[in-house]
Amino acid sequence: MTKRKGIVFAPYGPVWRKQRKFCHATLRNFGLGRLSLEPCILQGLATIKTELQRLNEVSGGAGVDLAPLISNAVSNVICSLILGQRFHHEDHEFRTMLDLMVRGLEICINSPAVLINIFPLLYYLPFGVFKELRQVEGDITAFLKRIIANHRETLDPANPRDLTDMYLIEMLAQQSAGEEGSSFTEDYLFYIIGDLFIAGTDTTTNSVLWILLYMVSHPDIQDEVQAEIDKVVGRHRVPSLTDKGSLPFTEATIMEVQRLTVVVPLAIPHMASETTEFRGYTIPKGTVVVPNLWSVHRDPTVWDDPDTFNPARFLDDEGKLLRKECFIPFGIGRRVCMGEQLAKMELFLMVTSLLQAFRFRLPERTPPPNLQGRFGLTLAPCSYSVCVSPRG
Ligand code: HEM
Repeated sequence: MTKRKGIVFAPYGPVWRKQRKFCHATLRNFGLGRLSLEPCILQGLATIKTELQRLNEVSGGAGVDLAPLISNAVSNVICSLILGQRFHHEDHEFRTMLDLMVRGLEICINSPAVLINIFPLLYYLPFGVFKELRQVEGDITAFLKRIIANHRETLDPANPRDLTDMYLIEMLAQQSAGEEGSSFTEDYLFYIIGDLFIAGTDTTTNSVLWILLYMVSHPDIQDEVQAEIDKVVGRHRVPSLTDKGSLPFTEATIMEVQRLTVVVPLAIPHMASETTEFRGYTIPKGTVVVPNLWSVHRDPTVWDDPDTFNPARFLDDEGKLLRKECFIPFGIGRRVCMGEQLAKMELFLMVTSLLQAFRFRLPERTPPPNLQGRFGLTLAPCSYSVCVSPRG
């Protein structure tokens, strides 16, 4: 569907390298991996907190679904960076886009539409999931193209607002320098924006939802995380990225949930760019290779009791955080996740701020939650409700 353009599904080579380098450098300029992005993340968190307070008052002890609020706050961070825009959590069109994105990923991987990878003509079938997929793609395309067109019309090269502006400026510079065959085109920009919008929303949202689900399933661990936050940050100061080094148990808990849940369990399909010999196997050039991150995270030769939730495995005897080579939720190598630093910032701030402010628990008389998840390129938790009470 992305016509080998963008970043995520672009083939390895000079065009991918140039585009990834440009986008990564530009996102860094706008705050990716830097303390300067903290207010942008906290802004979304403030909305979630206000809404959760309100829902707690009106729900009368019934559970609330956290997914819409969290996906909105997460998506607004990447939207600020790439589109210079935030969307209200009740914005109907934006909500529809987020829902379509989830549905699109599900159809692509977990329905007969997966066969399009082998028989591309199936894409044009006028019924069922094939038709639905084209509809989803069409709606997301129209939404993003409208925003890009608006950027083109209001572009002020002296005051770039976001990645889209920076890209348009680079594109115009290459055109006026007469660069033949430059890959910087508006068409390419569209696929890049689509990639970043999707990769930057679904993955982090699901990670936060998994962490909160594990917290309600393991209230003793939730207690421990909250005790650490209370001790280091207190109840009133908003947690900051500068607290990261002082909250090892909280970090270990985030990592342990990421280890067990692996939100991108099969990474992104790779392709052998040369014929390669590996452990006695010949992998011909062009072979699609699917990295199984899930199996690495559950490998009993690497992890003691791999199916058990145990944040302490990421701590040494003095309670300091341990880095483990086989912990690879963002993949490894040249195609490693481009948003790793951004995702880590978001996960840390969201988890610490939410657990500082609220106690999360399962509603009375509900069966134990399903920890298997729902697979659709990313592994999402099955939808769940929780009771949220302010900690005061
Ligand atoms: C917890 C959140 C996230 C997880 C677990 C995650 C995980 C991954 C994984 C496993 C890959 C594939 C690596 C491979 O194929 O070997 C990937 C690729 C990618 N991710 Fe993320 N990701 C997250 C958040 C983000 C965010 C916030 C962004 C936004 C900038 C992003 C942008 C990308 C891009 C552009 C690629 C493709 C890189 C390339 O092919 O060169 N990701 N991610």
